[in-house]
Amino acid sequence: MVKLRIFRFDPSKWSQYYMEYDIPIRENMTILDALLYIKEELDPSLTFRYACKAGLCGSCGIKVNGRETLACQTRIEWFGEGKVTLEPLSNYPIIRDLVVDHEELFKKHASVKPYIIRNEEGVDKEYLQTPNEREEFVQAATCINCGLCYSACPTVSIDRRFLGPHALAQAYRYIMDNRDSEPSARLTIVDTLHGVWRCHFIGSCSHVCPKGVDPALLIQRVKRFFILSERRLKRRRPAPLKS
Ligand code: SF4
Ligand code: FES
Repeated sequence: MVKLRIFRFDPSKWSQYYMEYDIPIRENMTILDALLYIKEELDPSLTFRYACKAGLCGSCGIKVNGRETLACQTRIEWFGEGKVTLEPLSNYPIIRDLVVDHEELFKKHASVKPYIIRNEEGVDKEYLQTPNEREEFVQAATCINCGLCYSACPTVSIDRRFLGPHALAQAYRYIMDNRDSEPSARLTIVDTLHGVWRCHFIGSCSHVCPKGVDPALLIQRVKRFFILSERRLKRRRPAPLKS
């Protein structure tokens, strides 16, 4: 048996408090399994979000004992006996209980143009890329947009205009993709007071990422890109088309 202490927020009454639930543990039970048990057996009013149950959609992000994590990838037994506290992610408006509003995260993501830009029109051929060229950005491409890093970032909590680790890591992902022909457009977007230069390299974003992305490092690489940009932008060639 484990006791879950869960943050509750009811927007209609504007009340927030913690409720405790006793959960009978079974083998390999995840935090998400426990939330579903509460929903089905103890308290149907508890609100949380999930979709894939496989660590892929990023929608079940919450804080467990103060640390950002995916509920579907976190086993209850890891916490031993006693009380485990579940809370919504930080740095987001809370909609209800453990559900937060990701709108700001996705707006910042969209602002860095997270897609390949090419100048040609009417092209219907593949762009070529070598394994080494793909290696430059593949780590950032494994991001599932869960926003755990954004919750863990202390700079976001004091500067709401800061683009944050997720958007900046995605900017890096497309800046480094040789199929893209507009890296300078994205560099302009992140070269602001609230862009890469606002990151203090605290590293908590990388610490909580469930996919092994290292946003703190990638942000430093964007800074390095600026320092070397004259040389690198000239050296970079857009991928040739396959004939
Ligand atoms: S970088 Fe990691 S923590 Fe941040 S949104 Fe992507 S997968 Fe989630
Ligand atoms: S439910 Fe999809 S990542 Fe947890």
